[in-house]
Amino acid sequence: MRKAPAAHSPMLEVKGVSKQFGARSPWVLKDLNLRLCRGEGVVIKGRSGSGKSTLLNIIGGLEPPTKGAVLFHNEDISQYNEGQLAAFRNKHIGFCFQDAFMQRHLTVLENVMLPLLLRGANTSQAIKQGKVLLEKLGLHAHASKLPGALSGGEAQRAALGRALIGEPELLLADEPTGNLDESTALDIMNLILDYKEQSGAGLILITHDTLPFEHNLRHFILADGVLEPLSN
Ligand SMILES: Nc1ncnc2c1ncn2[C@@H]1O[C@H](COP(=O)(O)OP(=O)(O)O)[C@@H](O)[C@H]1O
Ligand SMILES: [Mg+2]
Repeated sequence: MRKAPAAHSPMLEVKGVSKQFGARSPWVLKDLNLRLCRGEGVVIKGRSGSGKSTLLNIIGGLEPPTKGAVLFHNEDISQYNEGQLAAFRNKHIGFCFQDAFMQRHLTVLENVMLPLLLRGANTSQAIKQGKVLLEKLGLHAHASKLPGALSGGEAQRAALGRALIGEPELLLADEPTGNLDESTALDIMNLILDYKEQSGAGLILITHDTLPFEHNLRHFILADGVLEPLSN
């Protein structure tokens, strides 16, 4: 049974996480700590190869830490088995990556509905929710296309739809605008930040973009395996 979270207890606590990809490999993350409450957003920058994706994958239960713990509402997900991790990801986490990994043989609407179907939702309900979300993302005209027929920006919006349809408590975005032009990138960023604001979800965002400044975000740089706070 999941314990009821105390009013101010963080949603996510990364506690002393270290990571190496093999006994003789260098440490990518070194005793790293991070706390995130509901509605909070964190932006992480850092050089290529500094371990940003590794950190996000550990937080999302895609990669185990070598040492340390990742607590989600006080439960240590790093102790979960594969089945528990899959259920945890599907229920709580929305992933949005730089390369929109879509199922090539499913339509845009089917791709966006997929997380709901995996959760056992009824198909007509999933279609309805999928269509509402595509409308919101400005993709309703593309619902029955295959992903290969979308532009880069449209594909990234569709991937964001797939990340958001389950209304995740925690959205993990790894350079979601990396391949896009500046104005398309800003659209995607605004959709991500609007979701955080409207849903009260937590957000961890890896990006090199300059963000709209009105959003209340904590900024960090990942360097030498640890997170250093940045003043803006
Ligand atoms: N699955 C893996 N196996 C071995 N080494 C990896 C693996 N994933 C990442 N690394 C290494 O960990 C370091 C950090 O990678 P990554 O987290 O992708 O950095 P970033 O996202 O900041 O560019 C790099 O040196 C990379 O080569
Ligand atoms: Mg990366």
